Amino acid sequence: MIDYMFKPIGIIRTPHVETSQTPIQPVFAKGIPGTVEVFPEYVDGLMDLDKFSHLYLLYYFNRAKETKLKVKPYLEDELHGIFATRAPHRPNKIGISVVKLLKIEKNILHIEDVDILNGTPLLDIKPYIARFDTRDEVRSGWQDEIQDDTADVRGKKDYKE
Ligand SMILES: C[S@@+](CC[C@H](N)C(=O)[O-])C[C@H]1O[C@@H](n2cnc3c(N)ncnc32)[C@H](O)[C@@H]1O
Repeated sequence: MIDYMFKPIGIIRTPHVETSQTPIQPVFAKGIPGTVEVFPEYVDGLMDLDKFSHLYLLYYFNRAKETKLKVKPYLEDELHGIFATRAPHRPNKIGISVVKLLKIEKNILHIEDVDILNGTPLLDIKPYIARFDTRDEVRSGWQDEIQDDTADVRGKKDYKE
C-alpha cells in the first residue's frame, strides 16, 4: 500500500489556543468567529462558494501527537473505538467541521462556529448541501444515550469568551 501526502491549501485562524478551552464541535461553538486564509494559488477554486451558507472544512489535527484506537471521548468516560468518535487522535488525524460562512474577501473566508485550534492546516473545503447531506432517520450510537444538557456542558469544555 502506498502512502499519500497532502499539501495544505490554507490555514485556519481562530481564537482557540488551548485544547482544553476549545469546544468539541461547531454546535457547541455558536458564534465563535474565525477566518480561513486560502493560499493564493487556490483562489480560483473559491468561485461561487459565497452562495453557500455553510461549509465543511477538512483539516489536519496538527497538535494531536498520539494515535489511539480506543478513546474516551469528551462527552463520556467510557472507551469507544476511535472511528466511533470524532476524537483527534485518529491514524490520519483528519478533522471535519461544518462552519457558517459569513463572507469571502479575496482569499479570506470569514466563518463562525469554530471548534478548531488557531493555525490548523486546511486540507479541503466542500459546500454543505442540504439535499445531499441531511438525513431523516439517524442512529448516533453511544451518543444517543447522552442527555442534551450534559452534552452542552461537556461539549463547550472550558471555553471562555
Ligand atoms: C472532538 S474534535 C472534533 C473536531 C471536528 N469537528 C471533527 O468532528 O472532526 C474537537 C477538538 O479537537 C481539538 N482540536 C482542534 N483543532 C486541533 C488541532 N489542530 N490539533 C489537535 N487538536 C485539535 C480541540 O481540542 C477540539 O475541542
